[in-house]
Amino acid sequence: MRLGFIGTGTITRAVVTGLMHVGAPFESIYLSPRNTEVATGLAALDSRVSVCRTNQHVLDSSDVVCLAVVPQIAADVCKELRFTARHHVISFLAGVAISDLKQMVGPVGAIVRAIPLPAVAAAKGSTAICPPDEIASRLFSYVGAAVEVGDENKFDALSAVTATMASFYAVLETQAAWLVEQGIDYRSARAYLAAYCEGLSHEATKGAEPFSALVQSSMTAGGINEQLHHELSGNGTYSHYSAALGNVLKRIKRR
Ligand SMILES: NC(=O)c1ccc[n+]([C@@H]2O[C@H](COP(=O)([O-])OP(=O)(O)OC[C@H]3O[C@@H](n4cnc5c(N)ncnc54)[C@H](OP(=O)(O)O)[C@@H]3O)[C@@H](O)[C@H]2O)c1
Repeated sequence: MRLGFIGTGTITRAVVTGLMHVGAPFESIYLSPRNTEVATGLAALDSRVSVCRTNQHVLDSSDVVCLAVVPQIAADVCKELRFTARHHVISFLAGVAISDLKQMVGPVGAIVRAIPLPAVAAAKGSTAICPPDEIASRLFSYVGAAVEVGDENKFDALSAVTATMASFYAVLETQAAWLVEQGIDYRSARAYLAAYCEGLSHEATKGAEPFSALVQSSMTAGGINEQLHHELSGNGTYSHYSAALGNVLKRIKRR
C-alpha cells in the first residue's frame, strides 16, 4: 500500500505512529510538508516514510490518500490538487459528507470517511468507517478495531459518541479528587484508577457479550457495585447520556 497524507498534524502522526508500532506491511508513506516538525519527526523513524515537497507530490506518489487537514481549509487545499481515478481517498474531515467530498476531489476510485482517534498511535481504540471499504478496514484494523457502517446517519452517531472522551476523563477526575479527600495522594489515586480502567477495558474487549452482561457480572447481590450502580441509575445519571448524545448528534447534522 502506497499511503499519502494531506495534512501532517495530530491524527496523521497518530495513524503513522500506530502503523509503525505494529509493523504494518505498508510499502511507503508520503507526508505533506506541513507541519514540518511532525513530518520530519515521522520520516526519521522509518526509511519508508518520506516528506514530499508539495501536496500534489503526495498525490502523485500514493494510491491511498488520507485527507487530514482541518475541515475549514479542506476545500481550498483540494482545489489546488489533481486527484485521479487511481486514488482511494480516505477522509478524516469531521462533519464533511461524502457528497461534499465528491465535489472537493472530483472523480476518484473511491471516497471513504473514517474517524481515527489519538489512541491508534498505540494500536488501541476504534476507527469508524463509512461506507464499508476493504482497504480502509484493513488499514485501521492494524491500529485497533475498525467498525464499518453502511450509511452516514450511523457514521454521524458514531462521531457523536467520540464526544464522550472529556466526560470519561471527568468521571475519573471526580473519583481521583474523592480519593484525595480520603487522604490518598493524587499521584497514587491516578495510578490506581488508570490501571483499574485498563483492567475494565480488557474485560470489555476480550469478549463480545453485551455491556449489560458485564454490568450484571460485576455486581454481587447486596454488594458495593450493586449499591453504587443502583444509586446512580436511580438518580438518572446514565439517562443524561442519551439526551446529551442526542444534542451532539443534532449539532453534527447541522454542520
Ligand atoms: N484530533 C482528533 O482527535 C481528530 C479525530 C477525528 C478526526 N479528526 C479530523 O482529522 C483532521 C485532522 O485533525 P488534526 O487534529 O490532526 O488537525 P491538526 O493537528 O491541526 O493537523 C492539521 C495539519 O494540517 C496542516 N496544514 C495546514 N494547511 C495545510 C495545507 N495547505 N496543506 C497541507 N497541510 C496543511 C497543518 O500544518 P501546520 O501545523 O503547519 O498549520 C496541521 O499540521 C481534521 O479534519 C479533524 O476533523 C481529528
